[in-house]
Order: sequence, then C-alpha cells, then structure tokens
Amino acid sequence: MNIKKTILAIETSCDETAVAIVSFVKRDNGVDYKVLAHALYSQAEKHAVYGGVYPSLAKREHQKNIIPLLKIALKEAGIEMEKKKVLSQEEKDSVEDMCGQDETLKDVLLQMLEYERPKILDYIAVTRGPGLAPALWVGVNAARSLAFVWDIPLIGINHMIGHIVIGFANGENIPVVETPILAVLVSGGHTEFVFKKKSGDNYEKIGETLDDALGESFDKVARMLGLGYPGGPRISEYATRSRIRGKTDLIPFPRPLTQKDTLNFSYSGLKTAVRRVVESYEKLEEHTKEDIAREFEDAAIETVLKKTQYAIETHKPKTFVLGGGVAANTLLREGLTNMQKIYPDIAFYIPDCALTTDNAVMIALSAWFERGNLSDPLTLSANAKESL
Ligand code: KG4
Ligand code: ZN
Repeated sequence: MNIKKTILAIETSCDETAVAIVSFVKRDNGVDYKVLAHALYSQAEKHAVYGGVYPSLAKREHQKNIIPLLKIALKEAGIEMEKKKVLSQEEKDSVEDMCGQDETLKDVLLQMLEYERPKILDYIAVTRGPGLAPALWVGVNAARSLAFVWDIPLIGINHMIGHIVIGFANGENIPVVETPILAVLVSGGHTEFVFKKKSGDNYEKIGETLDDALGESFDKVARMLGLGYPGGPRISEYATRSRIRGKTDLIPFPRPLTQKDTLNFSYSGLKTAVRRVVESYEKLEEHTKEDIAREFEDAAIETVLKKTQYAIETHKPKTFVLGGGVAANTLLREGLTNMQKIYPDIAFYIPDCALTTDNAVMIALSAWFERGNLSDPLTLSANAKESL
C-alpha cells in the first residue's frame, strides 16, 4: 500500500525565512510529492543597505517572521488543527530551555503552542547547517519546540543536500537517479563539486573554492558597481544590456585556475581584476558598468563550465545536477544545456529557477530521504560549518 506522509519544513540558514508543507506518496519510480504550502519571506531588501547579509539582522527578522509564516503555511495546506490542552509545566520548561536566550521566539512559540496542534503531520524537518549560526538557531529552536510539544518526529537537514535534491524534483515527482552522481553547488556561501559514487554512500567533496564563493563574487562585484544586493540577478541584467549593444572595448578578465588540472576554484583574483578596472575610471557611466558586468559574468561562468567539463571527464558520472542560488544564472544554465549535448549518456538535472535560491520545499524534499535518521528535539543543534 502506498502510504501518504506529510512533512513540515523550516529553513532559516541565511536571509530567507521559509516554511513549507509537502505530502509524499512512494512510487516504484521514485516518490510523488505535492507542495501543500510554501510560505517564504525574503529579507534581501533589508540587507541591501549592507551589500550583503548582516547576521544579527537576519536573526531578528527570522524571530519576527517564523511563527506568522508557520501559521500561514498550516492554513494554506489545510492542516486540521485541534485544541491543545493547556501546556504542562514540563512542556513550558522544555520550550524555554530549547529557546535558550531567545526570549522573543519563546514568547511567540508558547502562545501558539498553548492553544492548538495539527491533527495530522508526520515529520518536522529543519535546516541545521551550514549557514549563519544566529540565523540557523532560530529555525532549529522553533522546530525542536514544535516537535517536542506536538510529539512529532524531527529530522535535521543539511542545507546543501537540499540544493541537490531540489534539482532532481520535477514539480510532482523525484525520480530514482543513477549513480555515480556529480553535483556542482554554487551559492552565496559555497562553490564546490560533490560526488556520490554509489547509492548509500555520502556525497564527497572533490573540489571547492579556495577563497570567495561564486555568488559572493557576484555580490561583491555588484557592490563595486553600485548595483545593490543580491548581486547575481543585477549583474546578469547589466551584462545582458552590454551583449545586446555588441562588442566591448574591455580586455577580458582572467579565467581563474582553468589552466590547471584541479577541481578547485578561486574567485578573489577575478574580483581584484574587476576592482582594478573599476578604480581606473573617474566616473562609471552606465554603459561601462554594463560592459564590466558582462566581462565579469563571462569569466566567472566560463570558469564553472570548464571545471564542470573537467569534473565530468575525470569522474564519469551517470547523473549531473546543478544546485544553489547561482543556478538561476541564465548563462550557466545555457552553458550546461549545451554541454548536455556532448554527453548524451549523462542525465543532466537543472533546477527550476523559482526554487534555486533558499526555500523550505528543498528541505522538505530532502527530509523524505532522511526520515530514517531522526533527531532528538532536546539535543539537536545548529551547525554553521556542517559539511555534507
Ligand atoms: O543558495 P542561495 O539562495 O543562498 C546561499 O545559500 O548562499 O544563493 C544566493 C546567491 C547570492 O550570492 C546571489 O547573488 C546568487 O545566489 N544569485 C545569482 C543569481 N541569482 C542569485 N548569481 C548569479 N546569477 C543569478 N541569476
Ligand atoms: Zn543556499
């Protein structure tokens, strides 16, 4: 019999507060799923003045928004709630312990928990890392408290696994994928290749950035050009205008580490090269900004494409998947779509643009595969540096 399971997931690792509720039915060809609710609040605009994510602001925003989003998600998913008897002193004390110093979260949580609980919810999942510690803790503490008081099994999820799993999902099904699997993960905090040799193995990191992450370099260059945060989409917008206009007079930027047989990346040299050019102008006209954005994007993305090809040649995967916020980049997506033609025997998975940046659906989907690996609500902790 195909049993239906429903998972509520929470994501607060960076500057997106997100709650999703997803139902699953196992099939022979994988698992069918339905997103019942997807409540997300992006703080990006609030961080824009800092040109990047400001951790204590992220924490405050998560504290303020997590419970309202949870209530919206429960309602949107049509999860039936029943009246909860008054909380016991033990339950109150435990929530207080789990929230630690976090008085704001404790108060809103206790208020909510005091009067209702979901009738049917099979698991609660939460991102435990990697990410910004103060931000992660808000989600982890909320999830622990909910799981404890509602007596629902808790699953801690690695954020980067979420970025991989969402790549396999097609909107209604996650197929069984063949190993070996090669993933390239490109986000604001990560730029790495991970490899899973056979089913049951963990993902192993086979290459990573030695300095800046790819998304971070987009954000930093956007800041130099005064384009705002997040930089990725802004840089692409400017670069596209330059391409439409035609040739540029700029000398192309270096393609870092592409001459060497390595799967590691380095983006700080490219960033410095951009800075030098920016500083050579007394005043940056719009068309110069557009040309710089274009040359930067060409160099940054060509590097990923070259390295990906090298990783494919050396590791011979059957499945390739792209993940992380920079997966929304059109140039990267087009480059990989073309590469797919060179390797017809490899299944390429490129995620739906709408779900490339941080969200809780990816955490719920990962939790389906991790449901045999439960966490104790009293002891689960956030791990800012968690590896795969
Ligand atoms: O995965 P994500 O939402 O958060 C982290 O876990 O870091 O990734 C955010 C990053 C930001 O650096 C943002 O500038 C970048 O992804 N990004 C892009 C694009 N959209 C978002 N970079 C390049 N091109 C894009 N279209
Ligand atoms: Zn992310």
